[in-house]
Amino acid sequence: MSQVTNTVRFVLDGHIVEAQGERRTTTLLDYLREQLHRTGTKEGCAEGDCGACVVMVGELNASGKGIDYVPVNSCIQLLPSLDGKSVKTVESLKGTDGQLHPIQEAMVSCHGSQCGFCTPGIVMSLVNLVQTNDKPTRADITNSLSGNLCRCTGYQPIVKAAQSACAQPAGLKLDDAADVPLLQQIARSAKPTVGLDGQLIVQPVVRTRKGNEFVSPATLAEVCDYLIKHPETTLLAGSTELGLQVNKQFVRPEHIMYLGHVRELRTTTQTPQAWRLGAMVSLEAVMATLREAYPDFAEVLRRFGSPPIRSTATLAGNIANGSPIGDSMPCLMALGATLVLRKGERTREVPLDEFYVGQKKNVMQPSEFIEAVVLPKPKAGQVFRAHKVSKRFEQDISATCIAVSYTLKDGRMSSVRVALNGLAPWPCRVPHIESALEGRSPDQVLASHIDDAIAATFKPRDGLRATWAYRSLVTRNLVLSFIQPHLEESLS
Ligand SMILES: Cc1cc2nc3c(=O)[nH]c(=O)nc-3n(C[C@H](O)[C@H](O)[C@H](O)COP(=O)(O)OP(=O)(O)OC[C@H]3O[C@@H](n4cnc5c(N)ncnc54)[C@H](O)[C@@H]3O)c2cc1C
Ligand code: FES
Ligand code: FES
Repeated sequence: MSQVTNTVRFVLDGHIVEAQGERRTTTLLDYLREQLHRTGTKEGCAEGDCGACVVMVGELNASGKGIDYVPVNSCIQLLPSLDGKSVKTVESLKGTDGQLHPIQEAMVSCHGSQCGFCTPGIVMSLVNLVQTNDKPTRADITNSLSGNLCRCTGYQPIVKAAQSACAQPAGLKLDDAADVPLLQQIARSAKPTVGLDGQLIVQPVVRTRKGNEFVSPATLAEVCDYLIKHPETTLLAGSTELGLQVNKQFVRPEHIMYLGHVRELRTTTQTPQAWRLGAMVSLEAVMATLREAYPDFAEVLRRFGSPPIRSTATLAGNIANGSPIGDSMPCLMALGATLVLRKGERTREVPLDEFYVGQKKNVMQPSEFIEAVVLPKPKAGQVFRAHKVSKRFEQDISATCIAVSYTLKDGRMSSVRVALNGLAPWPCRVPHIESALEGRSPDQVLASHIDDAIAATFKPRDGLRATWAYRSLVTRNLVLSFIQPHLEESLS
């Protein structure tokens, strides 16, 4: 079906919602509560931290006959990005004769709720978990809840409720058969629209009276064409940075382009040497790809935000945002990742460690964007280690995150790459530490070598999350423990 301008269409419990006349920055949470009066979904922080607003977002799966769901923080997802998708809120769980979902029943019987403010978000995180995981372990359950804060009940009864509901799996999965044909009906066309003059036409999902637009193309050709015509466009990937800027800094970009429908950008391909991770591949999917080859990288990603953040957030968004404490960049730099940058028909590859030219400044030109991240696979003898230090284990921002890669041959280290965040205005490699390690056997490296390298590289500065003394000490200790594993236990 062709796209209708100024109408966001999504499927909600067996019918199509047509949201008309909404702003391009209206959040899903505001629309659910204020227009649909689905007030079960709560607003706590409005910045993706508390999980009170978690809902499930579905898309047709690869076969086109079923729906894949992810949990999302509806407070930071922009409504127009839902065009062509489906939504489940806590109200969706109500049975035809009014009965509760088994997870809700168990929350009642296990005393998993007190004031109840967090409860709809917790229930939706758990219901999302059981859509794909029939027998979740305790670790699966606590991981699924790592983005849901409860200030009064305590997590023990909530985890017990999840375990008790999963002991009898009947009725855990949602009956969404009625949604499938509707999703097929509103699916966005995979073919670009071409005008009589042969020019591509990218129809906006939302266009304001001033001519500002929210567009949501389905092909790479449309993305390139629109960006050449409108270089000032703000790209929208997982919305876990941009959604915050909209809510907290009242940022209102003129044109927003959502990349989530572009199949080419959602694809991971591989050669024997490397993975090519499309710019819209979610961090959850990246984590699954890397887990076996780079377990430390996967662990850094597991501690990146929470499942609702990782289900939409992307490497490209993390990299383009360029925060000094961005977590994926140290691992990617240490592993020698490169970026495929595209502008129109032209692409170029830029090593990630040459991408930044200042704080939040990079080499991308107007109309250029990140098409993919190319990540080399492990080579024989390569050791890769990484660790994120933060005050909380999950759902917290780094004090520092450090990654080291080297090849060990005849007891000596070579091809050493060390990268970190939190010590400089942008994530970076540390050539002085690399030289202190290169060609040495691990036990020849002394703490003072690394201290000297840190002192020679960085300008000491205290930050909000840690003092300089703490960050530099942690850096030295982690680098040492990565090359001298016997130290790890004594340092932990
Ligand atoms: C609760 C919470 C927890 C978080 N935890 C962490 C954490 O643990 N570690 C961490 O590092 N970060 C964290 N973040 C920050 C954020 O999740 C990450 O930076 C994330 O990777 C951003 O990706 P995104 O796809 O959501 O980007 P978006 O918000 O969609 O976009 C971010 C920026 O990137 C640009 N952009 C997006 N895609 C492209 C592209 N293909 N080409 C060029 N530019 C592009 C956008 O225009 C925008 O400027 C957290 C955020 C929240 C809200
Ligand atoms: S309201 Fe707190 S995560 Fe959305
Ligand atoms: S029950 Fe009150 S915040 Fe969780």
